[in-house]
Amino acid sequence: MDVIDALQSRHCTRAFTEKPIDRELLMKVLDAANTSPSYANSQPWEVFVVAAEPLKKLRNVFIEKFRAGIPMTPDIPMAKLWPEPYKSNIGSTGAAHLEHLGIARDDKAKRAENLVKSLNCFGAPAVIYLCLSKELTHWSFYDLGLFSQSLMLAAQHYGLNTMPAAVIAVYPDLIREELAIPDNLNIILGIAIGYGIPGDLNNQFFTTRRSLDEFVRIKGI
Ligand SMILES: Cc1cc2nc3c(=O)[nH]c(=O)nc-3n(C[C@H](O)[C@H](O)[C@H](O)COP(=O)(O)O)c2cc1C
Repeated sequence: MDVIDALQSRHCTRAFTEKPIDRELLMKVLDAANTSPSYANSQPWEVFVVAAEPLKKLRNVFIEKFRAGIPMTPDIPMAKLWPEPYKSNIGSTGAAHLEHLGIARDDKAKRAENLVKSLNCFGAPAVIYLCLSKELTHWSFYDLGLFSQSLMLAAQHYGLNTMPAAVIAVYPDLIREELAIPDNLNIILGIAIGYGIPGDLNNQFFTTRRSLDEFVRIKGI
């Protein structure tokens, strides 16, 4: 698959089959992501993959904690205030997503049910947790973003689907304990990986983007 095809065909997969992901294939994806550039080649990414029984255990406790009303305490706090136009981009995407799923904005029960599906790691057979040393700066977040996108494009090339999700890292203590993640690392993001269920409503939501003239300024060409 060429890179443009991978970019254009990647989108969020929010419902996976149970088909396990082959370890060798996973290593190929990670190997490709490992070619990503980083500030002064610092290569700040630390990666923890969880699958099978340990993942089932994690999903179950995520859902248990949520149902018990235990507050979500991600290592990187959720951003509360978004300036315009980003706030509107988030608002319109969220509204379109709920409409696509047929969930009314004020239907708390259905929204909670949908959140449970997310906390179930979307049913994916594996999750890749991306971590960074707590001593690093903004530059390393930049690098981890590059690594993430490389990983998702490589997955696409190898016929796998992905789902980057902050929501599967909202109970970091549980993940840290299960995966023996050292205390000096922040758990930044989980990327669920596997095979999407074709035709599932959750996988048929397609987001839009701003047009280039809204954010590109060019002088000289
Ligand atoms: C850092 C990051 C965190 C995200 N967290 C979540 C999440 O917690 N739940 C979710 O449903 N989607 C999450 N997403 C997916 C975005 O909502 C999605 O990428 C965006 O709406 C664009 O849609 P697309 O990926 O299908 O093109 C996250 C994406 C990124 C890059």
